Amino acid sequence: MASFSPLVIIFLCIFFLSVNANEVTVGGKSGDWKIPPSSSDSFNEWSQKARFKVGDFLVFSYEAGKDSVLQVTREAYEKCNTTSPKASYTDGNTKVKLEQPGPVYFISGTKGHCQKGQKLRLVVVTPRSSLSPAPSPSDGPAVAPTSGAAKLTGVFSVVGLGLGLWALF
Ligand SMILES: *[C@@H]1O[C@H](CO)[C@@H](O)[C@H](O)[C@H]1NC(C)=O
Repeated sequence: MASFSPLVIIFLCIFFLSVNANEVTVGGKSGDWKIPPSSSDSFNEWSQKARFKVGDFLVFSYEAGKDSVLQVTREAYEKCNTTSPKASYTDGNTKVKLEQPGPVYFISGTKGHCQKGQKLRLVVVTPRSSLSPAPSPSDGPAVAPTSGAAKLTGVFSVVGLGLGLWALF
């Protein structure tokens, strides 16, 4: 084991980086999760310019306690219904892992904010490196056909990181 060649180490580092998930700040920069100043659809204009893959993290940046993030159904998104979200966050720097392909919906939980355009819809895609074919956008409810593969990739990335760190020190 002590005879790891530099090439192997480089390979492991590249492998780890390539499977490492992206963190994407909603709106583009810190503090952007708020009522958009102009267009009421501006979060979706932003999300359409980016690509979101399974395993990526969305980062919602806002003032803790003054705003919030609710992950909701499509119906609740359209009606700005904050009654029973799937998940709710108020910590000010909310990281949400995109677990499966398909559409996801977020709204602000603060009264009146969603109605003023603080809402986000985006479609998560399967990473290109995955062995299974990507579902077409019209494939109805989001299922997770790649979760096994994703878990395996996760295990490999952890092993890769461990070996990389071991090789460094
Ligand atoms: C909001 O959602 C809750 C639970 O899903 C539902 O009972 C309620 O009727 C909805 N309110 C509106 C205004 O649609």
